[in-house]
Amino acid sequence: MKRFLFIIALAFCLSCTQDLTVSSPDGHIRAAIGIEGGEINYSVRVDTSAFILPSRLGLQAKRGTLDKGFKLMGIKHASVDEEWSAPWGENKHHRDCHNELAATFKNSDGVVLTVRVRAFNDGIGFRYEYKAPGDSLKITDELTEFRLAQNGMSWSIPGNFGTYELEYRTMPLDRVKDANTPFTFKTDDGLYGSIHEAALYDYPEMVLRDFKADLAPWPDGLKARVPSEFHTPWRVILISRDAPGLVNSDLILNLNEPCAIEDVSWIKPQRYVGVWWGMHLGIESWYDDGRHGATTDNAIKYIDFAAKNGIEGVLFEGWNDGWASWGSRDDFDFTKPADDFDFEKVVDYAASKGVNYILHHETGGNIISYEKQLDTALDWAAAHGIHAIKTGYAGGISGGNNHHGQYMVRHYQKVIEEAAKRQIMIDAHEPIKATGIRRTWPNFMCREGARGMEWNAWSAGNKPEHQTILPYTRLLGGPMDYTPGVFDILYDRVKGNPNLKPWNGRSALECRCNTTLAKQIADWVVLYSPMQMACDLIENYEGHPAFQFFRDYNADCDWSRALAGEVGEYIVVARRAGDVYYLGAVTDENARTLEQKLDFLPEGKTYEATIYADGSDASMETNPLSYEITTRKVTSADVITMRLATSGGCAIVFKPL
Ligand code: NOJ
Ligand code: CA
Repeated sequence: MKRFLFIIALAFCLSCTQDLTVSSPDGHIRAAIGIEGGEINYSVRVDTSAFILPSRLGLQAKRGTLDKGFKLMGIKHASVDEEWSAPWGENKHHRDCHNELAATFKNSDGVVLTVRVRAFNDGIGFRYEYKAPGDSLKITDELTEFRLAQNGMSWSIPGNFGTYELEYRTMPLDRVKDANTPFTFKTDDGLYGSIHEAALYDYPEMVLRDFKADLAPWPDGLKARVPSEFHTPWRVILISRDAPGLVNSDLILNLNEPCAIEDVSWIKPQRYVGVWWGMHLGIESWYDDGRHGATTDNAIKYIDFAAKNGIEGVLFEGWNDGWASWGSRDDFDFTKPADDFDFEKVVDYAASKGVNYILHHETGGNIISYEKQLDTALDWAAAHGIHAIKTGYAGGISGGNNHHGQYMVRHYQKVIEEAAKRQIMIDAHEPIKATGIRRTWPNFMCREGARGMEWNAWSAGNKPEHQTILPYTRLLGGPMDYTPGVFDILYDRVKGNPNLKPWNGRSALECRCNTTLAKQIADWVVLYSPMQMACDLIENYEGHPAFQFFRDYNADCDWSRALAGEVGEYIVVARRAGDVYYLGAVTDENARTLEQKLDFLPEGKTYEATIYADGSDASMETNPLSYEITTRKVTSADVITMRLATSGGCAIVFKPL
């Protein structure tokens, strides 16, 4: 009897000390872990309302039980409030302030699972940390659910394991069947949220299927092959009272580990131009068919243009051998320049002009061939003084692997780490989604991973709302190499060009950019990238007054803030680089007037504002090229009125006087 009473007392004591909840430092967000019948769940409340209803947690494996029969073994609470800085970014200074709950469970199969939950003022993150008997596990499913407590509206692309280059859908939450992340939504109660992941290493990507995690499989159907002691990426739910709050969140970076590269002095944000757009327009080609873009002469012209305009980098696509036989076995050679491209001469010329040569590695998805060449190719690039490579994976992946499965997550990471050893920055196209790894590996500058500019050259093009959705979705993961800045919006220079031969069958003459000119300029600010391209043919920039904006732009930002906006409607962003401020505002298909306070400028200082705005008669449909440039003196006490045309924009440079 005495022993029985003691056990009851102990159980009571455990239940009153075992607090399975964790609150954000400001107390508004509270996550709770529950256990019912040996199965684990979590839920989230915001103030007094349910935000995520009790939702299942756990993984399943081929052998061993990873999801059932659990008993709580212990909990730990911790709190962190620390500042850290990054060598580049929208912001160079960050604050990681969160409370943590680590709950450890064990089952009769000897599986120990710690669910680690971190609550921030702008959302939560949690991950699984498993220790199972044996030396490895074959993961067959992840059970994580995200059962939103309310209906509302959402913005996402479909949950596809092969591409992110899909159109965004605006859809009521209760109609979403599958979606990729960042999956952004607004609840009927007016709260904004986004479901994503952080620190995705050696594990497949997660998409949502019926608001449950679905992992990109290996060709044999398995989801992940992991050691028996491992942890998953963080599952993330950003929460904000307004749409800009999602953009201003540091949470995803805070869930990544500190920088792993000791000397980061060679990692340099930069603007660039390149031999690129002509190929997408179909007036040049990637190889010598009489229309080759990357010839020595053209390269010299681009380098001269960059040097004259103070632009740091130049990219040359089609510089190497293999483009003519794209799709054959070992097609691309990353150390063999094309016959009409004098690589040594171009590299030396770029160096003599102080311009960075940005190399291109298009793999066509042939990972086996690329990995065979990787060491040699990177050594060769480094030996030529190259510090930046754009990679590409346009094509089916070796062995029938998914673009976003564990095989490829490993590959992308291998390239980053091998590149870092040789002081090379990476801009990956057809990448894995951005999950904040740039904090740990800041040589991973930017990536594509959504419909970029290229789609305007050979398809119906990106819709006017596209650039008003990207900042609240794709860009929450990290910077995008969207390649903004087409000035010849209607492709007048393509008309009558005898070299026009569309590479994918769709002529650029049936296409256009669905924006105004001022919106193209504003995109340089709105669509942040530490490698920011002005992608148009340089002929379209020569002598164009509006190109002054790009000359004045600095990709090496110190501070940024989304000031106003609604998902899929508009956004206003301010950034600072040194003592110069930039502002970008873009709208969807609706013209709108925005009154913007300049209170982000330091008090008591006067700035000269140069404003690149839609002309009073501008419209995306009928007069996209109409723009005006005005200057005025402003202080932080001023309010600026911006009239944006249909799919229009406004960009401002503020220079201190
Ligand atoms: C797709 C990339 O997104 C694009 O930038 C590149 O030009 C082509 N692949 C060819 O590599
Ligand atoms: Ca692409």
